[in-house]
Amino acid sequence: MRLATLALLAAPAAAAKSYLSWMADSWILNNREDEGAYWYGRATIYEGYEAAYELYGNETLLSWYHAQIDDIVNEDGSIVDFNETYYSLDDYRIGNNFLYWYERTGEEKFRLAADRIRAMLDRHPRTETGGFWHRQPVYPNQMWLDGIFMADVFYAKWTKLFDAKNRTAWDDIVLQWDKIEAVTRDPGGTGLLVHGFDESKTAIWADPVTGASPLVWNRAVGWYFVSLIEVLDIYPKHLPGYKRLLGYYKRLAGALKEAQDPKTDGWYLVLSKEYIGAEGNYFESSAAAMFTYGWLAGLRRGYLDERKFSRPAAKAYRHLIDDFVTKHRNGTLTWEGTVQVGSLNSNATFEYYTSIPVVPNDTRGVGPFLLAAYEWELRQKHK
Ligand SMILES: *[C@@H]1O[C@H](CO)[C@@H](O)[C@H](O)[C@H]1NC(C)=O
Ligand SMILES: *[C@@H]1O[C@H](CO)[C@@H](O)[C@H](O)[C@H]1NC(C)=O
Ligand SMILES: *[C@@H]1O[C@H](CO)[C@@H](O)[C@H](O)[C@H]1NC(C)=O
Ligand SMILES: *[C@@H]1O[C@H](CO)[C@@H](O)[C@H](O)[C@H]1NC(C)=O
Ligand SMILES: *[C@@H]1O[C@H](CO)[C@@H](O)[C@H](O)[C@H]1NC(C)=O
Ligand SMILES: *[C@@H]1O[C@H](CO)[C@@H](O)[C@H](O)[C@H]1NC(C)=O
Repeated sequence: MRLATLALLAAPAAAAKSYLSWMADSWILNNREDEGAYWYGRATIYEGYEAAYELYGNETLLSWYHAQIDDIVNEDGSIVDFNETYYSLDDYRIGNNFLYWYERTGEEKFRLAADRIRAMLDRHPRTETGGFWHRQPVYPNQMWLDGIFMADVFYAKWTKLFDAKNRTAWDDIVLQWDKIEAVTRDPGGTGLLVHGFDESKTAIWADPVTGASPLVWNRAVGWYFVSLIEVLDIYPKHLPGYKRLLGYYKRLAGALKEAQDPKTDGWYLVLSKEYIGAEGNYFESSAAAMFTYGWLAGLRRGYLDERKFSRPAAKAYRHLIDDFVTKHRNGTLTWEGTVQVGSLNSNATFEYYTSIPVVPNDTRGVGPFLLAAYEWELRQKHK
């Protein structure tokens, strides 16, 4: 959890222009109103706004964010247009934002809204060994890296706030990460993780023995890397699961260093070894932002060795600014180069992943960029 006191470190008028503030302001101006109000892309970008407020204390920005969340939560905690019997992990991510507003304002409706999502987890279908299905009915028995970010950080945060002594819950939480680590390690030896697995081994892409999908898709790895940073801030340090989570984080941080392209300092969309440099593969921006954020956040928390990771992280941050941030004549910034989607409701081949369009201003790229900029700008202040 970020410390509220960090806001005090913010100078009233920063000398160098802050990309964090600039991108946050720009995205509001270029805002797309056609997206679902509670969907995970919005939830992701809002987390960037939490970071921007914390560092620079812009009240206008905070009120804008408050209005977005306030509008979709009724007094009884029900969420506008939300279907509480539609079990999709993606839709649970917004629970984190409800908890943020509950902690900020103490307003009961935000807690009630979070409770409703928490109650859905109790009803959510699971694999035989206890993993949450990615979605019912379309992804039965499947766990994806993405789903860990979508649901389990919220599960941990809710538990910390309201059920902290429940050991069963903490074990259940870390089990989700354990299952991903046990099944999705890339057989190609990169140390990265493939997109997901099907415990019933019936999906067309499922490995007949492990159920794993074949390829390393960079955004899924990005969600997962961020989920580790976040859960480590929440998970009780005295429980055995903590050490495992920290180990997962460190191993992945190291594997991402190996996977960083030495020329561009970026990461390919498909990170499986056989496709590095392949025609059609490209340097994608949302995962690059998530990896950069995950490294910088881990450096600040002392999980990573400065001597090994500060240079790669600085280069990665430069790559974000140079290759994905566009400055326009009207004074706004846009964020480029984000792959729109990647789903295991596909044949999960290289051709599939690379056939998906790349789009600008996407919440799933902008949000992680805001978080990376937060860490970067915080780091510059402390130098
Ligand atoms: C605060 O945020 C608002 C909304 O994005 C923006 O218009 C304004 O310029 C920001 N103020 C400062 C001092 O950065
Ligand atoms: C600024 O310019 C960009 C590029 O032309 C455009 O996409 C965007 O909508 C403009 N934003 C505003 C607020 O005018
Ligand atoms: C997104 O950014 C591009 C610049 O790449 C701009 O032309 C476009 O109008 C923007 N779209 C929206 C919806 O903000
Ligand atoms: C909610 O989702 C369930 C499961 O998909 C569906 O059967 C039901 O019709 C949905 N309800 C509404 C109001 O859309
Ligand atoms: C503890 O957590 C588990 C798993 O989330 C839950 O099923 C159970 O109801 C909780 N126990 C109590 C006493 O709240
Ligand atoms: C997999 O799907 C993609 C489109 O998403 C298609 O181009 C490709 O031919 C398919 N490959 C196989 C082996 O079915």
